[in-house]
Amino acid sequence: MQLSEKVMDHFRNPRNQGKIKNADAEAQAVSSHCGDSTTIYLKVKKDKDGFQYISDIGFETMGCGAAVASASVTTELAKNKKIEEALKISVDDVAKELEGLPLPKIHCGQLAVEALHKAIKQIS
Ligand code: FES
Repeated sequence: MQLSEKVMDHFRNPRNQGKIKNADAEAQAVSSHCGDSTTIYLKVKKDKDGFQYISDIGFETMGCGAAVASASVTTELAKNKKIEEALKISVDDVAKELEGLPLPKIHCGQLAVEALHKAIKQIS
């Protein structure tokens, strides 16, 4: 199975990896496919117009390389976004950002998105 250079880059050098102390929200998703898991941590602030946005985000993944890369890219996509916009991030967005995910690895991307959405729902 061929993984893109971007997947390999985010797997080798994950962005925003690690737990955030005093997070405003924390949620874990577990894959029904393989049992791997991703946890997303969020800090939120209000912008000048009173909208909540994700001011900081971190992740921990117990899973495969594609799951790590997907969580890494998901945190990059969500950081500094209003929470309503971050809720719209989909597995298609993650796969596009990673320059493609092979079909058997789509659930790895889904894991990151599900954890993000669960965390956001805790604060919205
Ligand atoms: Fe299950 Fe990647 S193989 S998360």
